[in-house]
Amino acid sequence: MTTDELEQLLARQPVALLHRLARGRVHRHFRAGKRRLIELLLQHSSQNRAGLESDLQALLEVRQSRPEPGGRPTHTPTPSTRKQLPAQAPIPAVMEPAISLTSWLEGIGVPTPQPFVPDPWQLEALSAVGETDVVISVPTGSGKTYVAVEAARRAMEDNRTVIYTSPLKALSNTKYAEFSRLFGSEKVGILTGDRQENGQAPLLIMTTEILRNLLYDAASGEIDVRLDTLGLVILDESQYLADPERGVVWEETIIFCPSQARLLLLSASIGNPQDIADWLTSIRPTTCRLVRHSKRTVPLRAGYLHPNGKLTPLFRTLGIPYGHPSQLHPEAKRLFSEYEEETLPAGRPRR
Ligand SMILES: Nc1ncnc2c1ncn2[C@@H]1O[C@H](COP(=O)(O)OP(=O)(O)OP(=O)(O)O)[C@@H](O)[C@H]1O
Ligand SMILES: [Mg+2]
Repeated sequence: MTTDELEQLLARQPVALLHRLARGRVHRHFRAGKRRLIELLLQHSSQNRAGLESDLQALLEVRQSRPEPGGRPTHTPTPSTRKQLPAQAPIPAVMEPAISLTSWLEGIGVPTPQPFVPDPWQLEALSAVGETDVVISVPTGSGKTYVAVEAARRAMEDNRTVIYTSPLKALSNTKYAEFSRLFGSEKVGILTGDRQENGQAPLLIMTTEILRNLLYDAASGEIDVRLDTLGLVILDESQYLADPERGVVWEETIIFCPSQARLLLLSASIGNPQDIADWLTSIRPTTCRLVRHSKRTVPLRAGYLHPNGKLTPLFRTLGIPYGHPSQLHPEAKRLFSEYEEETLPAGRPRR
């Protein structure tokens, strides 16, 4: 096949097939439109033309043998059938059948209990926090609490006070209950706008605003005795640093944090954790170590819950096909349109 013939053959294929062909060949192929995709595939073909042609052939064969949603097999029109087709007949997109709700829900539930084994990033963070300040940047639900609990345990065993802050009173209450169960209620106190209990305990839970205010008071000479023995400050949900309104509270807390205390910043994935670690290193007496981990322990599933209570997968696939709006699940599309019909004011154009 000449390059021209290959180009023409590619141009006749639906874009979904081109994307499949581009997998593993073209970086970020999902961002490219059809014309660009063909260009990139042709460029790549110089590396392994035979491989590309044979994969293309295989995809075309799969496409020909796959039944259409209506049950009729698709096939490349023979010269006799081609005549019967309208000149601009749309080419059906090649896609896997959309996932069913049952398969989408499969595996959700309580897993069988297994012995607890800390992840390598958790161990790395724990060994670092004894020496330096630490910023942890890992996805939601990865197990940051384990690191916080173990680091707090070690600091308390060393007769140091620990402060754990969260951005919300509700979260502080939850952590107060959780840590009281773990360490015993006499070891844990809480200080929020609503609750002040056991304020002399070695492990204090508070909102970040309360800690910032405590540090303000200390800076103006009203030194709280617990700050002298402060060994560890854990700032949970520290991605709030980037919050346009409340971020300053985290910033000031870090700036005023006593130099003898280690800082442990826990955050869900943030864009520039290295910048934050570098900033801490530049303003604090010790270096700051960044512990990063990006793989989700529990992969995300995207669903759509219509206000009428109907639940459907959001995409045709179990995983989330980033950058593929065309991969919306047909049932989700139907429910969207139904919702638009019901809610858009009359006269507004429908998508
Ligand atoms: N090493 C591990 N192996 C298996 N499960 C773990 C491990 N570490 C933590 N978990 C479990 O993972 C779940 C989520 O943990 P955790 O609440 O600490 O996540 P998180 O990172 O703080 O999430 P969020 O960003 O939502 O605050 C908990 O049920 C916890 O027991
Ligand atoms: Mg957490």
